[in-house]
Amino acid sequence: MIIEQTTLLRGKKILFGVSGSIAAFKAAGWVSSLTKEEAQVTVVMTAAATRFVTPLTFAALSGNEVQSDIFAGGMAHIALPAAVDAVLIAPATAQTVARLAYGFADDLLSAAVLACSSPVLICPAMNSKMLTHPATQRNLATLREFGYTIVEPESGRLACGEEGAGRLAAWDTVRETLLGLLATQDMAEQQVLITAGPTREPLDPARFLSNRSSGKMGYALARTAKRRGAAVTLISGPVALEPPPGVAVIHVETALEMAEAVSRSAAAASIVVKAAAVADFRAAAFSAHKIKKTVTEPLLELAANPDILASLGRNRRPDQLLIGFAAESDSHEAEGRRKLLAKKADLIVVNDILGKNTGFEADTNQVTLITLETAETLELLSKEETADRIWDKAITLLHSKRMKHGTEQV
Ligand code: C5P
Repeated sequence: MIIEQTTLLRGKKILFGVSGSIAAFKAAGWVSSLTKEEAQVTVVMTAAATRFVTPLTFAALSGNEVQSDIFAGGMAHIALPAAVDAVLIAPATAQTVARLAYGFADDLLSAAVLACSSPVLICPAMNSKMLTHPATQRNLATLREFGYTIVEPESGRLACGEEGAGRLAAWDTVRETLLGLLATQDMAEQQVLITAGPTREPLDPARFLSNRSSGKMGYALARTAKRRGAAVTLISGPVALEPPPGVAVIHVETALEMAEAVSRSAAAASIVVKAAAVADFRAAAFSAHKIKKTVTEPLLELAANPDILASLGRNRRPDQLLIGFAAESDSHEAEGRRKLLAKKADLIVVNDILGKNTGFEADTNQVTLITLETAETLELLSKEETADRIWDKAITLLHSKRMKHGTEQV
């Protein structure tokens, strides 16, 4: 599941190659998704692909004429790839993979790829025996050597009825990989640790204390950091979101479990972002049996949870960047600055939990970025765009931190 639509693909020119596998019907949905995100998609089909899905389907979904004939005139094989931001081939059959590996130019798609200098993304789909055959594996290795990106097919039940590897990858994975190819890799050196979501503090086997955090902001931070090349670990409380592709996710439930997971992973991280809404209190005692309704006015005794961010602030390396969040309903800047100092963080991201389209559960956010010297309120943006702006700020802070400590560049 994709958390939200962003404008990241707006205006991007994508040459979408479709080859002849039954999975071509899925490519129709992908073209539709790209077009909805306002990418400009031109579809090139192999002759075999047109036997599975008609060019009319792709023309209607992309809003552009479909190309498949290398002899149609107009030097399409040179003109088509000249101005594209990326080439995406899905499904890529064993035949198309072989053609590209050997550099054949006997149809429009293979000739266009040869004439293209933009990033190429290949999504193979085929029977598992065809996929695991040494010929296909060698051809895929050759394509990797060319610098093409291969999105590995998934395992599962294949159209031929067999079980195994060869099923076209999920769109979310492919979309993330495409966004990564289009993004500046300015976080390639970074090991990022992010916490997200609420924590759940059990009272008895049926009940818990929690809060309204959806995890969307933390997950958006994980996706965007991964796209920009970072190695990302996400420690997540219970949320209803799919793990972002390519991100190592550690699931926890309570604040104590989160504290434990963070302390195990923090030392390796160059940037730690505490986007989780950690419960400040837990039940002083867990009742092994469900608390009976017959207790008319039960008293709930609470114990304070450890402040994970504050303990990170006390124990971090000087070159580690520490980012906290503050969910506030008033005095945003003053509260943010107080937390910045109290928790020894480099940056506090304050969000307004009373705003209509900000904070908990919303797909958009409006935040103020507070550092020792600055306070900057961003416009209302999608959470992914907000995440990108937080990373921009983080990279700048990291650079000045490294300059100050005399370590090598970020
Ligand atoms: O003090 P407050 O809870 O408002 O601070 C919010 C920031 O502190 C967030 O970054 C949150 O993840 C972090 N925090 C924490 N451990 C707690 C409470 C909050 O790390 N027990």
